[in-house]
Amino acid sequence: MSHYHIKSIAQFNQATQEAKDNPEQFWHDIALENFMWRNTWDTVVKHDLTMPSVTWFEGAQLNISENCLDRNLAERGDKTAILFEPNDPDASAEKITYKELHKRVCTFANVLKSKGIKKGDRVCLYLPMIPELAIAVLACARIGAIHSVVFAGFSATALATRIDDCACKMVITSDGSYRGAKTIDLKGIVDQALEKCNGIESVLVVKRIASEILMVPDRDFWLAPLLAQASDICEPEIMDAEDPLFVLYTSGSTGKPKGIVHTTAGYMVYAGYSFKNVFQYEEDDVYWCTADIGWITGHSYIVYGPLLNGATTVMFEGVPTYPDVGRFWEIVAKHKITQFYTAPTAIRALAKESLSLVEKHDLSSLKILGSVGEPINEEAWHWYDDHIGKNKCPIVDTWWQTENGGIMITSIPGITESIPTYATLPLPGIQPCLMDENGNEILEIKAEGRMCVKFPWPSMARTIYGNHERYKETYFASFNGKYFTGDGALRDELGNYRITGRVDDVIIVSGHNLGTAPIEDAIDQHPLVAESAVVGFPHDIKGTALYGFVTLKNEQGKDENELRNEVNDMIASEIGPIAKLEKIQFTQGLPKTRSGKIMRRILRKIAEGDSSNLGDISTLLNPEAVQDIIDNAF
Ligand code: WT7
Repeated sequence: MSHYHIKSIAQFNQATQEAKDNPEQFWHDIALENFMWRNTWDTVVKHDLTMPSVTWFEGAQLNISENCLDRNLAERGDKTAILFEPNDPDASAEKITYKELHKRVCTFANVLKSKGIKKGDRVCLYLPMIPELAIAVLACARIGAIHSVVFAGFSATALATRIDDCACKMVITSDGSYRGAKTIDLKGIVDQALEKCNGIESVLVVKRIASEILMVPDRDFWLAPLLAQASDICEPEIMDAEDPLFVLYTSGSTGKPKGIVHTTAGYMVYAGYSFKNVFQYEEDDVYWCTADIGWITGHSYIVYGPLLNGATTVMFEGVPTYPDVGRFWEIVAKHKITQFYTAPTAIRALAKESLSLVEKHDLSSLKILGSVGEPINEEAWHWYDDHIGKNKCPIVDTWWQTENGGIMITSIPGITESIPTYATLPLPGIQPCLMDENGNEILEIKAEGRMCVKFPWPSMARTIYGNHERYKETYFASFNGKYFTGDGALRDELGNYRITGRVDDVIIVSGHNLGTAPIEDAIDQHPLVAESAVVGFPHDIKGTALYGFVTLKNEQGKDENELRNEVNDMIASEIGPIAKLEKIQFTQGLPKTRSGKIMRRILRKIAEGDSSNLGDISTLLNPEAVQDIIDNAF
C-alpha cells in the first residue's frame, strides 16, 4: 500500500523515512495506486538541479481532467463536485454533480476546439469566481491547451503583459463580475488590454451581470450560444507526463512577472496526495477554500486537488464583508463545511469584528481549519482556534509557493502536532534544508537560515515560460544544486519549521506576493517622479503593508495628497489595487550605496519605526538623505 493517505503518526514517520531512502519507490506506489494512466512511466524521476532539469514519470501518458472527472463517474456521478455560492446571499447556491461537471467540461472543450484551440495553445482565463472558471480550466486540460489564469483583480496593463508573455491565442472572460455591492466591468478591462496585444484570435464571453458591453465582430463571442451548439462528448487528449498543464504568473524581483510552468503528471500526483493528507478528506465532507482560482491555492486546492479525490469543493463568488462581515460563517453553517481553508489576512480582518457575528452561526460541522499565504501571527492563530474551531479543530498552517505546486510544510490534522506560528514539518517526500550565508547546509537541527529544498518533488515548477535562464538564476543559482525558496526560516530541536519571511525583494501583502520592482516601475512612470523605493512594514490586518519613499523631479508646488492619489492610481492601473501603497513619503533623496544601489535595509527600518539602530551609514553615498527621511517619516 502506498502512503497516499497517511492515517497515523507511525505511518507518517515511516513514509517520511521511505521517501528519503527510496523516493522512486515512494512516488511510484502513490502514482500507480491512486490515478488513472493511459500508459505508465519508464522512469519515476530524472533530475539535475544544477541545469536545472527535472522530469517525473517520463514515458507516462494521461489526462488530468479524466482523473478529475471520468474516473469519478461510476461511484460518484450524482455527488456534488462543485458547490457554487454566489455573491448574492439570497440567490440560490448551485450544486454541480460530477456527471454534470463532466458534461459541461466536455461541451466547453468542444467550443474551444471549434475556435481553433489545439494541444499546446495558451488560453488566458480572466474570470470571476463562477463555475465557468473551473470548467474552463478543466476544458483546457481536457484538450491539452495550456491555461493561464489571470486574477480578475489585475489591471488591463498587467493582463496585457501576461497575455503577451506566453502568447495566448484566446481570452475567456465575462461581461462583468459581482464583488459585494459593486460590479466590475471585466470585459471593458479585457478590451483595453487587447489594444496592446497582438496574438488574440478570439474572446469568449460568459454572461454574468447582463451589462451592456462592446462585442467586437469576429473576435468576441458569447459563450452560451456556442455551448448550446456543441456536443457534450469529448475524448480527452492523451498527454505526455511532462507536457505543460498551465502557466501561472507570480511577481519577481524585476519588473516582469514570471510565468511559472507546471507540467501534467507530477503536478497531478502531488496535488492529489497533498490534498488528501493535509485535509484528511472523507467521502461526505464539504470542503471550502476561500482563495481565488487566480492564485495557485485555487488551482491546487479548489480545482485539481479536491476533484482528484472525488471531493465536494465550494466556490465562493463574493467577499467576506458582504452583506456583512459574518458572511464566511454564514456559509460555513449553510453548507455544513467540514474543512475551511483561508488566509491570515482574512482571519485578522474578521477577528476585529464583533464576536456576535461569529456566534450567531452554527459552526459545529467544522473539523479542520487551514491557513495559507503568509505567516499567521499568534493572536490570529488563537482567535481562529478559539472562536472558529472552538478548540476542537486542528489548524494546518500550510507553507508553500506558486513554484511548488502544492503544500510543502504543514502539520497533518489529528496526526502531527499544530504549533502556533510554525508551519511545522515537511510532508513525506519533501526535503527542506537551511543554508548559512556561506552557502553551506546547516546540519544542526535547531538553527536559522535560508530555506532551500534539496531533492526534487513531483509538482515543482519546471521552468519560467520562455526564460529558462531566469528560472535557473532565480531559484537554483544562490545555492548550487538546491531549490532556493526566497524565505528565511527557523527550525526547532524537533525539526519544526517557522517561516520568518522573505529574504528578497518580494513582499507579501494580505497573502499576495508582490515584487517591489514592478511597483517601483509603476510609480516611476508618474511624470513628476524621479525615483522611488518600496518596502514593507508590519500592519494589523494585512500582515505587511507597503511604504513608498518617493523622490520628485523638482518642486512643482503640487498638493502632496493629490500626488499620493495619483501615484496610487498609477499603481492600480499598472498592476492592480492590491499593490497600492499604504503610506507615501516624499523625500529629497534615497539612501544609496556607492555603487548606486538603494539601501532598502535602511528604509525598511525607518518604515518599521525603528530608526534608532540603522548600523553604519557612513559608507553611504549620501548619508545626509537618511536624516531627512527620518525627520519626515510617518
Ligand atoms: C510565499 C509564496 C502558495 C500559497 C499562496 C502564496 C509566503 C505562503 C505561508 C505560510 C509563512 C507563507 C512565503 C512564500 N507564505 N504560505 N503558511 N507561512 N509564509 O503563494 O504567492 O507564491 O507566495 O508566501 O513567503 O515564499 P505565493
